[in-house]
Amino acid sequence: MITPSPPTTDVTDRPPVLRIEQLRFGWDSGPELLNIAQLELAAGQNMLVTGASGSGKSTLLNLIGGVLMPTHGEIEICRTQCAALGARRRDRFRAEHLGIVFQQFNLLPFLNVIDNVLLPLQFAPQRRERAGVTGSERHAQAQALLSALGLEAQHWTLPAHRLSVGQQQRAAVARALIGEPSLILADEPTSALDPVNRDRFIELLITQAAAAGSAVLLVSHDPSLAAHFERQLTLGEISRPAVAA
Ligand SMILES: Nc1ncnc2c1ncn2[C@@H]1O[C@H](COP(=O)(O)OP(=O)(O)OP(=O)(O)O)[C@@H](O)[C@H]1O
Ligand SMILES: [Mg+2]
Repeated sequence: MITPSPPTTDVTDRPPVLRIEQLRFGWDSGPELLNIAQLELAAGQNMLVTGASGSGKSTLLNLIGGVLMPTHGEIEICRTQCAALGARRRDRFRAEHLGIVFQQFNLLPFLNVIDNVLLPLQFAPQRRERAGVTGSERHAQAQALLSALGLEAQHWTLPAHRLSVGQQQRAAVARALIGEPSLILADEPTSALDPVNRDRFIELLITQAAAAGSAVLLVSHDPSLAAHFERQLTLGEISRPAVAA
């Protein structure tokens, strides 16, 4: 179920970065897990997805990210249906358009922080160009993002496994934001933080995504984060299909 969106900015003239129509998904022969009738996210908008453990939040992100295919219905990112692309083009499309913050961050442990942040650009030429024409420009962009997210310079050249959990979260968000992808997907990125740091971190993420023009779909079991977001989707509350406001 979608709670009504507050009347913030008029987004009707912005193109949708995400459009979901009649999405249904169930694992194998099990019961239907997700049923979302309609959902649209405009460029630069942000939305919180909440729901109890097991309600399908991570499954939804994996469907949007093209890792899983819907049982029924359509998911479009920037007007492209990923399921209709071959595996190679789908991987390329994801790299260009999506910045993903995994629940466990998935940083490469022995690669330094800057190189972790620059990693998605290797597979996405347009995104790479937006991050900078030369290697040193892209390097400077990675540093600027890390700095804006509160990770100090002394950590930038450390291997990722030498960072604390909170520092890894910042590096993972910088990696998702670099090159201004259309949509950031973030799965419980604040699970390890205390409430004060959690609120600060969400605000940083939203501010930096807005500066990059990236829309944000953030998943959390914690509904108290809703105050930070323009839109909210709650999974698993009712048995009839969810409809976006
Ligand atoms: N690979 C899989 N094969 C079969 N069932 C799965 C698989 N992955 C997840 N599920 C099932 O799908 C349901 C939703 O899982 P999902 O991970 O999307 O929930 P979630 O809302 O993200 O939960 P949490 O808050 O605990 O992360 C669960 O019942 C889970 O057992
Ligand atoms: Mg999950």
